[in-house]
Amino acid sequence: MTLTDREPQAAATALEVPIVDSPPDAQPVSWTHRHLLDVDVLSWPDIELVMRTTDAMREVLGRPIAKVPALRGTNVTILFYEASTRTRVSFEVAAKNLSADVVNIATTTSSVSKGESLVDTVRTVEALGARMLVIRHPVSGAPALAAEVFSGSVLNGGDGWHAHPTQALLDLYTIRASLGAGRDGSLAGRKVVILGDVLHSRVARSNIWTLTAAGADLWLCGPATLVRGFEAWAGRGAAAGRRFHVTTSVDEALRDADVVMALRIQRERMGSGLLPSLREYAARYGLTRERLALARPGALVMHPGPMNEGVEIAADVAAGAQSVITDQVTNGVAVRMAILYLLAGTHPVGTEVA
Ligand code: NCD
Repeated sequence: MTLTDREPQAAATALEVPIVDSPPDAQPVSWTHRHLLDVDVLSWPDIELVMRTTDAMREVLGRPIAKVPALRGTNVTILFYEASTRTRVSFEVAAKNLSADVVNIATTTSSVSKGESLVDTVRTVEALGARMLVIRHPVSGAPALAAEVFSGSVLNGGDGWHAHPTQALLDLYTIRASLGAGRDGSLAGRKVVILGDVLHSRVARSNIWTLTAAGADLWLCGPATLVRGFEAWAGRGAAAGRRFHVTTSVDEALRDADVVMALRIQRERMGSGLLPSLREYAARYGLTRERLALARPGALVMHPGPMNEGVEIAADVAAGAQSVITDQVTNGVAVRMAILYLLAGTHPVGTEVA
């Protein structure tokens, strides 16, 4: 018998978000954000609430039938204007695990290919019943524009170079779960390296926010052309008490690192002249076993995917004992369940959050 053969009521078990695990001095927080456009609007208590809700969702995922009724009757529409495997499927699985009605729109087969504007498309999917809209778009700011016209909740699944909030949250969750964090959830004293094409990376931009907020000692590393502009961020971050460095030296970055996150060279977003060749990039910046040996023993290896093995990361490192890349994928489902669940609770057209 498959999940879908069962009566939803029979399969579903009510989900309770535990707040009992919070430190005794922590104030219970309630979620107030209607949209998730980036992580920079989240306070530390908001981030902690996402982490605790994700723990609850991980527990759901461990059940024989990983389904709860929290979003029953809620239409979650997934509108992706860019290629994606894991993020799109992860949102879909997450929404289905919460019993939502999921509508997937492939922009190549929709009226978008006939020139329909983003605003028209958003109004159309709303008229067709969408109450939560997950959007990925090659243009930075597109989800924010959608949020201006959509009466439900908008979740940013990645926009241009700008932001990828659920990726940053799942990365934080994975690091905390794998390394252990302080009782306050802090990564203070942990050296975290983001290695590669930082310039074109929305993953890096969102991660910079959450990882420095968590107290990590964050290092961005790549060729000068792919980390340019971030020195100014580092200066502003340091002024705000965040630990944040930029270097072109892979040895300096990796030495004694606790976490190394490799990023894909985003060829589709790259103008010419930024890299001599991929072969040269791999030779100078690729995450190989030899380079990983500079990090702390047992340092975590991460990658948001999709990977170009042999370019930014060697195949044996990606599949090695230190890799938590598949944990990132599994945790991605739990984090997205948590975000959908929390946003549904602030929905203007009240949904039952069971
Ligand atoms: C990333 C993305 O699309 O921003 N991947 C992802 O969502 N897991 C990174 C990338 O494309 O390299």
